[in-house]
Amino acid sequence: MTPKQVPATAQGVVVRRAEMKEAEAVLKSVLNLARASATAAHWSRAAFHPYLSTDEAGGALQAKAMFLACTDPAKCATEAGGSHTPIATVDGIVGFAAFSTIMTVGVGESTLENMAVAIPWQRQGIGCRLLKAGLHWCRAHAAGTVFLEVRASNRAAVALYERAGFSAVGNRPGYYRDPAEDGLQMQKSLGRAARAG
Ligand SMILES: CC(C)(COP(=O)(O)OP(=O)(O)OC[C@H]1O[C@@H](n2cnc3c(N)ncnc32)[C@H](O)[C@@H]1OP(=O)(O)O)[C@@H](O)C(=O)NCCC(=O)NCCS
Repeated sequence: MTPKQVPATAQGVVVRRAEMKEAEAVLKSVLNLARASATAAHWSRAAFHPYLSTDEAGGALQAKAMFLACTDPAKCATEAGGSHTPIATVDGIVGFAAFSTIMTVGVGESTLENMAVAIPWQRQGIGCRLLKAGLHWCRAHAAGTVFLEVRASNRAAVALYERAGFSAVGNRPGYYRDPAEDGLQMQKSLGRAARAG
């Protein structure tokens, strides 16, 4: 096996929230990660930027967040949900997942907007961990349901989402371009009922 063929190991990879203060390093990495993937959404830098928000003000009607998988624990904060250590630079971002939430009639609706794991790091549970961190954030933002769209042919992603408890609820003809393809709409209930009023 040549060094290039040696699989990267996910041992020591940390999953945590992306923060505004590390914008330069994070945006560069996630742009590259998304562009290197045929099936991730190829967003612009400007499209990624709002996901680096600092903590939302209480009661915000809309919120966005991005979670990162990083290989360098010395420069990364603790697992999402734990306390955050301020950092200025980020090395070794090997995966990301971007989520949004909108509050409607007392209960939030979240969307998994974009996600990718670098090829050498795939199939080691990093996608699952990014999803778990994102779903935790969705719950904390009062989301009752999480939606996503995925290319119908994207077996890896569909399998990941099914394993995380998402199920197919609809088909969006011609949703994707380059190449043209239908979008499979999936959803997961977080078991939260709408609050009265
Ligand atoms: C989809 C993606 C994020 C999965 O990331 P990952 O880190 O490899 O996922 P995990 O290792 O956490 O996989 C968890 C489970 O998902 C399923 N899965 C993941 N990749 C799979 C594959 N290639 N084939 C079949 N099932 C797969 C399996 O059930 C897997 O569990 P297992 O390894 O114990 O069998 C990754 O393949 C990727 O970045 N793809 C390109 C970008 C993309 O398609 N993004 C989604 C856009 S909607």
